[in-house]
Amino acid sequence: MSEEVLIHADAGVITITLNRLDRKNAITQAMYGAMADALAAARDDAATRVVVLQGHATVFSAGNDLGDFLNQPPAGQDSPVFRFLHNLAAFPKPLIAAVCGPAVGIGTTMLLHCDLVYAGDNAAFSMPFVNLGLCPEAASSLLVPQMLGYHRAAEALLLGEPFMAEAALEVGLVNRVLPPTEANGYAQAQAAKLAAKPLSALVETKRLMKKTQQGAVLERMAEEGASFGRMLREPAAREAFTAFMEKRRPDFSKV
Ligand code: COA
Repeated sequence: MSEEVLIHADAGVITITLNRLDRKNAITQAMYGAMADALAAARDDAATRVVVLQGHATVFSAGNDLGDFLNQPPAGQDSPVFRFLHNLAAFPKPLIAAVCGPAVGIGTTMLLHCDLVYAGDNAAFSMPFVNLGLCPEAASSLLVPQMLGYHRAAEALLLGEPFMAEAALEVGLVNRVLPPTEANGYAQAQAAKLAAKPLSALVETKRLMKKTQQGAVLERMAEEGASFGRMLREPAAREAFTAFMEKRRPDFSKV
């Protein structure tokens, strides 16, 4: 298990902590693999009732590790990132996220699949896929317009404009805004409340709430994944990623 993803089990709650602060919790293929495996184990373990995803009080995640994606782009639906997204979207038990600081790309889109989201007042959400020559992932092209309304979704997904915790609260992406030092603890307290409830009732209630959309979500995720995988290898993304590594502005004039 990678030290960059910490897995902690306590009283029916599995906590998955992104722990790569020197890279702002940017997520590598190895980290996606560790999180995908942790979710599969939590799904299959009868003693696990709730999963909490969290980062640090200063940063949730800078999204995909751009160097890692440039060097070893994910290949197909069996790749760690797609396994993680699938296990997340299909996770049958309650999922809680605690989010502070930047939540970029998948740092924001993974929240669309969590049941409860608690944000520090320093949380900044952004989905700059277009700026990276990419398209949305995690079924965000379906779920973000539904949640934000089309025009605000266009600001977030076409312009890649960030929005802060209070705006996320207003549109329903987060349940509550807290001081950053309290967000992880509050998520744990809510997880303990859920862990004390009958698991069968939680699972059935979540299944029924998700039922109408589940097929469409998985279908959209697969379609986005195919486009995302193709676009990662195209000139626009390669220019955007190389520019990020070289700490310069990307030049899209030729792509
Ligand atoms: N992939 C790889 N490395 C990353 C990264 C990413 N997604 N995000 C940050 N890093 C690295 C930086 O290159 C920097 O490395 P260095 O110390 O060698 O220079 C280090 O992490 C710290 O990042 P820095 O940008 O200095 O921190 P910050 O607090 O000023 O800004 C962010 C934090 C998250 C706002 C900013 O790092 C950022 O925008 N990152 C890119 C986000 C992105 O485009 N993600 C992809 C989404 S699909």
